[in-house]
Amino acid sequence: MSPARDRHERIAPTAHFTAYTWHHLGLPYAHLYATARGARLFWALRLTIEWSVRVRGAVPTMAQYLGHRHRVIDWTLDRHAPDRIAEIGAGLSRRGTTWAADRGVRYLEIDLPHMLAAKRALIEERAPAALRERLGERLSHHALDVVDPRFGERLGALLEGAERPAVVAEGLLGYLTLPQRVALLTSVRAALAPSGGVFVFDSHLADAQAAVGRASQVLRSLIGVLTRGQGVRDPFPDAATAESAYRAAGFTRIERFEPLALQDEIPELARVYSPVNIYKLTA
Ligand SMILES: C[S@@+](CC[C@H](N)C(=O)[O-])C[C@H]1O[C@@H](n2cnc3c(N)ncnc32)[C@H](O)[C@@H]1O
Repeated sequence: MSPARDRHERIAPTAHFTAYTWHHLGLPYAHLYATARGARLFWALRLTIEWSVRVRGAVPTMAQYLGHRHRVIDWTLDRHAPDRIAEIGAGLSRRGTTWAADRGVRYLEIDLPHMLAAKRALIEERAPAALRERLGERLSHHALDVVDPRFGERLGALLEGAERPAVVAEGLLGYLTLPQRVALLTSVRAALAPSGGVFVFDSHLADAQAAVGRASQVLRSLIGVLTRGQGVRDPFPDAATAESAYRAAGFTRIERFEPLALQDEIPELARVYSPVNIYKLTA
């Protein structure tokens, strides 16, 4: 197996794990994408490693951590009110189905071919005809490699004509090396530049992780287990470094949201610290 293929294979279980977590949290349409593989990973982790390493109350469970990430991204998108959304590394996310079927917004899910094939098969097999009709052309799937040098150009073509586009990436940037991350930011900004759209994604910062020490070590080691040792790459050292990289990529406005500060706005957020930041960058 080529090293690139092996990396993709190692990240794939996290998409199943996360999709099952959203189902466990009762999020709309998540049942369509909950797989047996996701259930096995979720319960194996929860009943063994997670239980033994967790210090009650001080560290979010994976479900709380992933719930924070997902809900704060949803909240950020809601407030932007996009007319088209492209989610890169969409995996088995239920978000696109919600926006396309219930909000009537055109939603483009971008991923590698094997993941898109798995997702289309689940929709075909599980979505009732009425839902498939509501999704119609609004939910579409596009096989693109985000580290391909022509990715920005291809993404730009998919966003052409949108007035308030948003690009979303959830649980993706952390797996990229710093140079790949910077290249992706530059591509996304180029694709959004004609419309002044936004890029919404989750990010970790090394100094914030160090400040909560154990919580983030536990989460990183759980991700390491899920990805058979690949784990996540080093985050930006601090907010200032991350934000100067975002400006260097051409983004003009930077907003950062932390789950703890949004407890009143998003009542479903578990009242526990989560070492994740959601960024919204305006092109
Ligand atoms: C960690 S999963 C996250 C999936 C989903 N966003 C979530 O939160 O569960 C990363 C996703 O990115 C996809 N991916 C990894 N490398 C990619 C690449 N080079 N181009 C496009 N997608 C990629 C994987 O197939 C996978 O679906």
